[in-house]
Amino acid sequence: MTFDGDGTASGLPITTKLVSPTTRSDAEAGWPGAAGWPGAAGWPGAPGGPGAGPLPVEASGIVREFNSGHTTIQALKGIDLRILPGEFVALRGRSGSGKTTLMHILVGLDTPTRGQVTILGQALATMREAERARLRREQVGMLFQNAHLFPSLTALENVELPLRLARMAGRDRSARASAALAMVGLSARAHHRGLELSGGEQQRVALARALVHQPRFVVADEPTANLDTTTGQEITALLVNIAHSQQIGLLVATHDATIVAAADRVLSISDGQITDTTTRQR
Ligand SMILES: Nc1ncnc2c1ncn2[C@@H]1O[C@H](COP(=O)(O)OP(=O)(O)O)[C@@H](O)[C@H]1O
Ligand SMILES: [Mg+2]
Repeated sequence: MTFDGDGTASGLPITTKLVSPTTRSDAEAGWPGAAGWPGAAGWPGAPGGPGAGPLPVEASGIVREFNSGHTTIQALKGIDLRILPGEFVALRGRSGSGKTTLMHILVGLDTPTRGQVTILGQALATMREAERARLRREQVGMLFQNAHLFPSLTALENVELPLRLARMAGRDRSARASAALAMVGLSARAHHRGLELSGGEQQRVALARALVHQPRFVVADEPTANLDTTTGQEITALLVNIAHSQQIGLLVATHDATIVAAADRVLSISDGQITDTTTRQR
């Protein structure tokens, strides 16, 4: 469900009512305990319950300026935020409000003009690029509007790629990738190639790939923008369940009212500033 502008989600049903993807078999409903996949109890942040452990991300005073010709565009004008383990935060704002710029900075793909970002207690500014890349590879997951699968690889092979990059041994790799595919309800499609999958299935593979290394912090940039309403709701349901059960801090930039309604907290961004924060009572 997409709509433009900063339209509000009021009046829409909240996700707990729309979740249960019907295409997922019960055997695959494995989260929080799909084979080979630790439940929430297996995560560093789990013992104290929700919210325990180091913060997945913390940012303060983030300013990002872009120089174009003789003018300077201030895309971010002093953003502060922190996301707790297991918290699903939606970032809502019009096109051009600064969502993608902020997400790139929060995962260390871009450097702020001013301000600090800390991922799991590690200040990005103090790290070399290679260390930031390693932190991303090990602790951060990313999901985009398009799935960006390798079309000639199978679903399983696509999901395994981050583990290959991390040089994990073959057997462990397939076990992990299979568990991640089960978590998104796609075990039955493991050996289908990227092009043989529907748009929603491709996005689920991309989600499995974003989660396969068991990151603590996940960003998703308009992950349902190219999906139909029902498929978008299924992806949203997966995101909610996974953030909560795996104690992942999740930030989702979106126009999608379903995602906004599902989030634990909604940040509204306008012209590079957070203008409103709504925390949902559960
Ligand atoms: N690399 C860049 N160079 C110059 N301006 C940029 C660059 N990236 C983003 N901007 C500008 O920053 C603002 C925010 O962009 P963006 O973060 O992509 O917004 P959103 O994701 O909310 O649509 C826009 O005005 C955009 O034109
Ligand atoms: Mg964007």
